[in-house]
Amino acid sequence: MESYGDLCAWFYDLDKPAAPELAFVWFAGALPPGRILEPMCGTGRFLVPLLQRGFNVEGCDPSPAMLARCREKLAAAGLETRVWQAALEELEPDEFDAALIPAGSFCLLHEPAAAREGLKRLHGALNAGGLLLLEFEPPYGAGDWPGQVTRVVSQGGTQIRLVSRQHYDPATQIDSYENRYELRQSGRLVRTEDEVLRLRCYTPEQMESELRAAGFDEIAIEHQDFGWVAKARA
Ligand SMILES: C[S@@+](CC[C@H](N)C(=O)[O-])C[C@H]1O[C@@H](n2cnc3c(N)ncnc32)[C@H](O)[C@@H]1O
Repeated sequence: MESYGDLCAWFYDLDKPAAPELAFVWFAGALPPGRILEPMCGTGRFLVPLLQRGFNVEGCDPSPAMLARCREKLAAAGLETRVWQAALEELEPDEFDAALIPAGSFCLLHEPAAAREGLKRLHGALNAGGLLLLEFEPPYGAGDWPGQVTRVVSQGGTQIRLVSRQHYDPATQIDSYENRYELRQSGRLVRTEDEVLRLRCYTPEQMESELRAAGFDEIAIEHQDFGWVAKARA
């Protein structure tokens, strides 16, 4: 089953048009000058305002639908940068000075082997001493997960409803979502899209150990007002 398909990307763009402010301010404040990579850039809600603030940032993402929205936003803002289709596990060696993965997106690599390969590739895409800024999701406390959530967004006569069923397994620290998107035009159901998302949650100690195993150094794990972040040097 596809994830981050057309309806998901459309819904995401309407539901989350801008980066969360506290997170954006922290990432923008922590990034050094130089060449910056945002893998998992999605619709560009971090990438576009970072470019607008003068950062030299490039982005990649495996979802054609998310990338199409990102490219539309870049064009609408009159901005140009390299944005390409690639999963984290497929990153080629490069010489970026920094990389950022906000919003817990890294946790989407829920298979341990994929997550480890992703971190290794990320290490290889950075210069020696290059800075990684990565936000991650901590494990849930008992009974802390919401179960089923319905959200609706609209644009003109178009409405997209998301029905999301969440399940968290404390043993594996995997947070699973079964999502159904329903597109309605003038009240008529036109299309549906189903997806399953799985996220692996990390304790600060687990994240530190994964980063170290991938070759990162000078690792600092911090709790910020918006969530947990790791800072590390390649
Ligand atoms: C929740 S979105 C967040 C995007 C962006 N970080 C933001 O805050 O708007 C997660 C993104 O991760 C991408 N993604 C999923 N699996 C990936 C992988 N293995 N490698 C790289 N990106 C991936 C999806 O296509 C999606 O665009």
